[in-house]
Amino acid sequence: MIRLTNLTKRYGSFTAVDGIDLEVPRGELFGFLGPNGAGKTTTLRMIAGILRPTGGTVEIGGVDISRDPIAAKSKLGFIPDRPFIYEKLTGAEFLRFVAGLYNQTGPAVEHRARELLALFDLDQWADELVESYSHGMRQKLIISSAFVHRPEVIVVDEPMVGLDPKAARILKDLFREYTRRGHTIMMSTHTLEVAETLCDRIAIIAGGKIRASGTMAELRSNAEHGAQGLEDIFLKLTGDNVARGLVEVLDA
Ligand SMILES: Nc1ncnc2c1ncn2[C@@H]1O[C@H](COP(=O)(O)OP(=O)(O)O)[C@@H](O)[C@H]1O
Ligand SMILES: [Mg+2]
Repeated sequence: MIRLTNLTKRYGSFTAVDGIDLEVPRGELFGFLGPNGAGKTTTLRMIAGILRPTGGTVEIGGVDISRDPIAAKSKLGFIPDRPFIYEKLTGAEFLRFVAGLYNQTGPAVEHRARELLALFDLDQWADELVESYSHGMRQKLIISSAFVHRPEVIVVDEPMVGLDPKAARILKDLFREYTRRGHTIMMSTHTLEVAETLCDRIAIIAGGKIRASGTMAELRSNAEHGAQGLEDIFLKLTGDNVARGLVEVLDA
């Protein structure tokens, strides 16, 4: 459903995303991991059609997003890391607005919007302006907005940030059930435990390059001896080393 071929993004002379090849099949919940500055957000924004690649292609359901952006984007929902919501809309109006962008209106949309708001305990707030929402409530509304038009593919950048444990649990269950029904989700996350327990497959990116990808079992068998949990594998592949320097830091 998502195919990236030699996907590249340069900012001036700096290469943020360096020739990524990646395929996410239909029905998969795919985790995208990497340290800060690895190129996750840049990649996800290119997949969502918000950022133009310097090179390479993004295909959504076989449609090249630069050749036919409307057809590709009509299959997509995107949950950005720093969402923008019109403050002067109510929660219900915002969901109606997003559905409208995808040419969806009427009773089915109203019903879905109500169900999503209820799922995230926002039903009491449906007719309140977004400006009165807390950070977590905004996050839950943005997540709802990616599901309201039932896209084939949802691309999510750091969805857990700012969610309380109950909302995080609802989100995980929602992602699992949505992919079980044949939709496709690609999510970046810092929460390795979430990636490990939730995702079908994982890719680890660092320095703009994919360092490893596969199921947890595949990653384990590829990692060097001793790396068992995803944290060990992640730190090994991204070249980070937690222990080094701590003694110097604390002795200083
Ligand atoms: N608009 C931009 N101009 C210049 N450099 C950028 C821009 N956006 C991101 N970068 C750089 O690209 C790299 C990857 O950033 P990003 O994709 O946000 O990483 P991640 O989401 O994995 O933390 C970082 O080094 C970042 O500083
Ligand atoms: Mg990011």
